[in-house]
Amino acid sequence: MDTANQFFVRELQDMYNAEKQAVRALNEIEQQCKRAEIKRAAARHRRQTEGQIKRLDHVFRAIGSQPSERTCEGVSGLMQEKRSVESERLNQDLTELNALMTALKFERYEVSAYESLIFIAQQMKQREAVRLLKETLKEEQDTAKLMLEQLKKTKMDWQAGATGQQATATARKAAPARRGATATARRGGAAAQRGAASAQRGAASAQRGANASRQRAAAAPRRGPGIAEAASRPRAGTRRGKAA
Ligand SMILES: [Fe+2]
Repeated sequence: MDTANQFFVRELQDMYNAEKQAVRALNEIEQQCKRAEIKRAAARHRRQTEGQIKRLDHVFRAIGSQPSERTCEGVSGLMQEKRSVESERLNQDLTELNALMTALKFERYEVSAYESLIFIAQQMKQREAVRLLKETLKEEQDTAKLMLEQLKKTKMDWQAGATGQQATATARKAAPARRGATATARRGGAAAQRGAASAQRGAASAQRGANASRQRAAAAPRRGPGIAEAASRPRAGTRRGKAA
């Protein structure tokens, strides 16, 4: 494959198959859900999806191709995931929640695919294809919104089995305060240690200074108190040592 047109046709084939899978998925969701609103939303979008398949026929023809399909691995994966969760023997509430989550993921996948296809068709100056694909995109966006609203209306015992997580969350909230206190104490201890080391160095330096003074005084000739006193004073220009 080396042209944008080939890539576009390939992706149209993918969506042609995705829409056929969507008809089956929406039918399944309609059967699985007890809430009338979800059943209505699923049935309505299934009818829309049948229209979207016909619309894709027109898109193929508008760009001079024959309608054809290839397996859409993306939505196949979403449906496999749905079945995998269902294999964990869900109760009715969780079956509906799983169905709504799958429907929302499905719609968002389609929205992303159509947004990309519209961009490509615009670049290819395929105006009729752009117009048709935009109609489908609007339906997918509206359905995604509707599915999210239905998801948010779900009522069940959300706290059931959550005791462990709540306890963990509380512990996690307290942890930063404890960590802060420990770090402050650690910093305080280190500062105290540094202070003690500095005091030790100061004392050792003072001791060295005193010893040097005594040695100079002992070495100075005893010519009188004035000279001895002068010898014990540091001379101008000499360093006074670390005691300072
Ligand atoms: Fe669709």
